[in-house]
Amino acid sequence: MIAEPTVATIAEAAELLRKGELVAFPTETVYGLGGDATNERAVAAIFEAKGRPQFNPLISHVLDAGQARRYVQWNAVADKLAQRFWPGPLTLVLPRVKNSAIALLATAGLDAAAVRVPSHSVAQGLIRAAGRPIAGPSANRSGAVSPTSAEHVAMSLGDRVKLILDGGPCLVGLESTVLDLTSERPTLLRPGGATREAIEAVIGTVAVSDALPSGDTARKSPGQLKSHYAPGRPVRLNATSVSVDEGLLAFGPNPPAGAMLTYNLSPTGDLGEAAANLFAQLRALDRPGIGRIAVMPIPESGLGLAINDRLRRAAADDGADSGS
Ligand code: TXA
Ligand code: MG
Repeated sequence: MIAEPTVATIAEAAELLRKGELVAFPTETVYGLGGDATNERAVAAIFEAKGRPQFNPLISHVLDAGQARRYVQWNAVADKLAQRFWPGPLTLVLPRVKNSAIALLATAGLDAAAVRVPSHSVAQGLIRAAGRPIAGPSANRSGAVSPTSAEHVAMSLGDRVKLILDGGPCLVGLESTVLDLTSERPTLLRPGGATREAIEAVIGTVAVSDALPSGDTARKSPGQLKSHYAPGRPVRLNATSVSVDEGLLAFGPNPPAGAMLTYNLSPTGDLGEAAANLFAQLRALDRPGIGRIAVMPIPESGLGLAINDRLRRAAADDGADSGS
C-alpha cells in the first residue's frame, strides 16, 4: 500500500520495522527497501524480496554521526566528511566496532559496514521513530533500475512490502556515493550524488576503485558487477544520431531528430537535473515498440561521473547480476 507520510503512517512503518517487516521509504537519492539493520531475519528478508542472487552488503541508514559511531569505528577523515556531507548522498564504509549491533548479514560477513545519513525528512522521521538503524538497498527487484518514485517501487515490489511511504520524486535521483575509509587511502567504490570533486575539496585526492566500469573484474565492493542498472532493452551510448526504432535519451538543447520517442534529461544541459531524471526516463523508454535506447554523450565531470557510471552499467550486457 502506498501511503502519504504523516506522523501516523511513519509510526506505523516504524512499528512494522521493529517487528522485522519491510517497508519502502523515500530518500533524497532513491527509494530504499528498509528493514531493521540489527535484525538478521529482517535483513535476510530484504535479500529475498529483492531476489538478490548473492549477499551484497547493505547500507545502514542512521540519524547522525553520533549514531553511526555506535556501529563503526570513527576517524578524523570520516568526521570531516560527515560535517560537510551529512545529511546527504554520501555513504562511508568503516570498520565495524567490536560487537556492533548491525546484523552480520547486512555487511555480508565483511569486517566493514556502510553507513549513511539521508537528508530526506521522511527517512529521518522513520529512523527516529524506529529507534534503530535501517538497512536499505534501493527498492527494486535485483538487476533493475533504481526507483525514484513510490509508483516505481509499487511496480516491482508492491507485493513484497506492506507499506510504501510516498515522499514524491527523489531530488537527487542517483544513489549515494560510496567511499571506503577502511584503508590508508580513501577509495571511491561507487560514484554517486556527492561528487568526487566536492569530496576531494574536503579530504584531498581519493583513489578510485578499479571495480568501476572500464576497470577489470577485481572488486572490493561486491555490489559492483558491471551490468547493474539494466533496462530490458539494449542501450547504446554516445549517440549523436538516432534511428526510428530507437528511443532517445537526450541531453542538452539540440538532440538529433528521428527517434521513435525522445526524453531529454536536461534541455539546458544541467547535470543535477539530468541525474534527477535519469532513472525515470530510462524506465519510460524501456517499453514495447522500442528496439534500443540511444543515449547522447554526457560530460564526464561533477554528477556526470555518476550518471555515466550508471549508463555504462545499463549498456553493459555481461549477463552478470549484482543485484543492487
Ligand atoms: O543512495 C543509496 O545509497 C540508496 C539509498 C536507499 O540509500 N541505497 C543503495 O543501496 O543504493 P544498495 O544496496 O543498492 O547499494 C549499496 C552499495 C553497493 O554497491 C554495496 O556493494 C556497497 O554499497 N557497500 C555496502 N556495504 C559495503 C561494505 N561493507 N563494503 C563495501 N561496499 C559496501
Ligand atoms: Mg541498488
